[in-house]
Amino acid sequence: MALLALPAAAQVKSGSEFLSPGMARQQADETRNPGFFWVEQGEGLFSARPPQGQACIVCHAEPRQSLRGAATRYPQVDAASGKLLNLEGRIEQCRVERQTQPAFGHESAELLAMTAYIASLSRGLPMDVATDGAAKPFYEAGKAFFERRQGQLNLSCQQCHDGLVGQKLRGDTISHGAGTGYPAYRLEWNSVGSLHRRLRACSLGVRATQFDFGSPEYLALELYLAGRAKDLPVETPAIRR
Ligand code: HEC
Ligand code: HEC
Repeated sequence: MALLALPAAAQVKSGSEFLSPGMARQQADETRNPGFFWVEQGEGLFSARPPQGQACIVCHAEPRQSLRGAATRYPQVDAASGKLLNLEGRIEQCRVERQTQPAFGHESAELLAMTAYIASLSRGLPMDVATDGAAKPFYEAGKAFFERRQGQLNLSCQQCHDGLVGQKLRGDTISHGAGTGYPAYRLEWNSVGSLHRRLRACSLGVRATQFDFGSPEYLALELYLAGRAKDLPVETPAIRR
């Protein structure tokens, strides 16, 4: 029974399995993986005292233990607001409500660094988002988005990331779109970028609407992808082409 109920996620592989051997080695080597530069920046920021308010580390002592595993549980529904928050959203919430500082802002160097740092504390731990209960409607919305044909090319996410896995497209090998290494360092960006930045690139690729960073559409999609990736290890910061 349990086996039959398993979603396609059972076969979903990490994007890292589709890397060239050279890039896979570079990703694994902290001294050669440029993403670790952002991780270090994030670690510094975590301890830095803002003009007012407290440093993150004052409330989150021993982050290597206290925040280890946190990233495996995002996106998740915020109990107080009922909103779906990804890791970036939770960090911004703490930044504004608890640290009483202005939000870092989507795709800012600070938010990317902080997110990369906190996600890196979960490296190797299995993804474990809730997709039932309060999360269910968001998960279902993400699934519907994933399966819907869209854009001038009239392609769904699923057609590429389930149907064409392993095929080449413009020099890339199409993966399952697991997204377990984000924020990731992408050679094309020459920088670390968020999962939503990657999703915008995929939307543009099929000439479909690009939703905003942190939009409800991409958050729901992120939850669905994370649900499909259940039990895959967190790999932030990954390296991608
Ligand atoms: C005044 C205390 C305080 C400050 C300052 C603070 N936080 Fe938090 N943070 C909390 C509390 C309380 C929670 C919710 C309880 C929990 O989940 O452990 C939380 C939750 C979190 C979570 C979610 C943890 C999880 O397991 O889901 C993250 C990530 C986080 N904070 C990051 C940060 C970052 C980054 C900063 C600095 C920008 C920061 N926090 C500043 C008190 C604080
Ligand atoms: C025309 C085929 C195509 C479509 C349609 C498409 N993508 Fe992609 N996507 C790619 C290619 C190619 C890459 C880069 C190689 C890879 O990692 O799969 C990629 C990368 C990704 C990644 C990053 C994976 C990683 O590990 O770095 C995610 C996540 C993703 N896509 C999600 C989506 C979602 C969600 C949709 C629907 C909105 C979508 N894609 C639509 C082709 C597509």
